[in-house]
Amino acid sequence: MIFHTRPPRLPQVKASLLGLGVSKGSLATPLGREIDRRLGGLITNVLKREELKGKAGEMRLLETHGKIPAANILLIGLGDPQKTDAEILRKAAAKLVRTGDRLHVSSVMIEDPAGSGGATGSAWKKIPSDLRGAGLAEGAVLGHYRFNLYKSSENHAKTVREFLVLTSEETAIGRGLGRGKIFGEATNFARDLVNIPASDMTPRRMALEARKIGRLPRLTARIFDRKGIERMGMGCYLAVARGSTEPPYFLHLHYRPAGKIQKKIALIGKGVTFDSGGLSLKGAQSMETMKDDMSGAAAMLAVMKALPLLKVPVEVHGISAVTENMPGGSAGKPGDIARSMSGKTVEILNTDAEGRLTLADAITYALRQKPNAAIDVATLTGACVIALGDLCSGILGNNQKLIDDLIASGRREGERIWQLPLVDEYREELKSNVADLKNVGGKWGGTINGALFIGEFTDPKVPWAQIDIAGPSWTEKDSDECPKGGTGHIVRTLLDFLSRY
Ligand code: BES
Ligand code: ZN
Ligand code: ZN
Repeated sequence: MIFHTRPPRLPQVKASLLGLGVSKGSLATPLGREIDRRLGGLITNVLKREELKGKAGEMRLLETHGKIPAANILLIGLGDPQKTDAEILRKAAAKLVRTGDRLHVSSVMIEDPAGSGGATGSAWKKIPSDLRGAGLAEGAVLGHYRFNLYKSSENHAKTVREFLVLTSEETAIGRGLGRGKIFGEATNFARDLVNIPASDMTPRRMALEARKIGRLPRLTARIFDRKGIERMGMGCYLAVARGSTEPPYFLHLHYRPAGKIQKKIALIGKGVTFDSGGLSLKGAQSMETMKDDMSGAAAMLAVMKALPLLKVPVEVHGISAVTENMPGGSAGKPGDIARSMSGKTVEILNTDAEGRLTLADAITYALRQKPNAAIDVATLTGACVIALGDLCSGILGNNQKLIDDLIASGRREGERIWQLPLVDEYREELKSNVADLKNVGGKWGGTINGALFIGEFTDPKVPWAQIDIAGPSWTEKDSDECPKGGTGHIVRTLLDFLSRY
């Protein structure tokens, strides 16, 4: 999609579909009111007759019968101006693009609500203009996403090619639109990687995707096959990979920005391309969505791909220990003991707690890159979905500043992250009689136990945070911004975080 800005004046309204914001039962901007006059008060009448208040999410489509160049107007509720939020703009843009597709138009237009002056305008100005632009572009790109690769007939043709924003702050909004487009497209890329079925999105295919990204400017890729993984001594990771006929691949992407490098971040993604549970086999229902167990790795790849476009000024190592978790004849057995790359031994009592085994070795490798901070993202525990539901990720770690910064990035990007405590006492239950650790903890607090386990492989001197994305990485509901399936959750949070680090 192409994004442009135009000054907020009637002669600039040329798109066939125009989105107009409504707040507290009236049009939000002077341009909106001018258009209403041209239409002989049509909009005001509709607002009155239908008692449209302009609650966030409300919308109404009107025809203009040739009285202004836009054939249709979409009234979009912007909610209470006291509660302005970039998320409202994302949703508005997504609705606008979806309506444009339905009407088979190629170009849509919306006005920046901060242009309105008065109380409404100044409320929207509280969101910096580049973030307003970014929100609009993100919503448009996310709202346009469909996963049609496996459909024989394309029944939802996408016609909208151009998205115009009417604004008096063309430069800043334009900059934001550029950023939002990259953020949105990165999210959609992660969605595709997750939505492609596990038998196609194998570890080999993930390696191929990493190799492609490694050819982009300022990026390099190192990919280790089973031999290389053995040579590095990643016994925990290999214990997971044993049960599958698909070979594992360890991915290491490296982004080096131009200019003097100040800081280095390691980003580790859980990359289990299918989690059957291994011999501790999952039930049929819980397995249905387990192609999404590589959502962390998908987010990592999507982030790495976007870094050169955003010219992010920090060095980033993107790492994933990719494998299937299968119960084949050579699968690891409950009670087996594996030696991790760090030297610590692990008694594997439940082969379904495989993510932490792959992450343990991946984190050891990541710390050898000497990062200033390490962040892992993983669909790690069902317990996190029970605790926080499917709209909120859990975050745990050893450094409050890092955690706070990630939560703040999430807030800006409309991705909810909630901190859980690392309860030290629970560590007792991770001790094994026969090895240094076991891979399952006590009965309760599964998300905390998972993070405590991974914490055993971190360095207290290196800030570390773990984001458990088990809930929000997948959705069972269609929404304006995302159809059912992989959501690409956390990509935008990570990009925002890295752009500011
Ligand atoms: N991939 C799952 C976690 C998961 C569950 C992600 C539901 C998304 C939705 C993970 O590998 C797993 O199976 N974890 C176990 C750990 C347990 C055996 C200690 C779990 O959460 O039940
Ligand atoms: Zn599992
Ligand atoms: Zn898993």
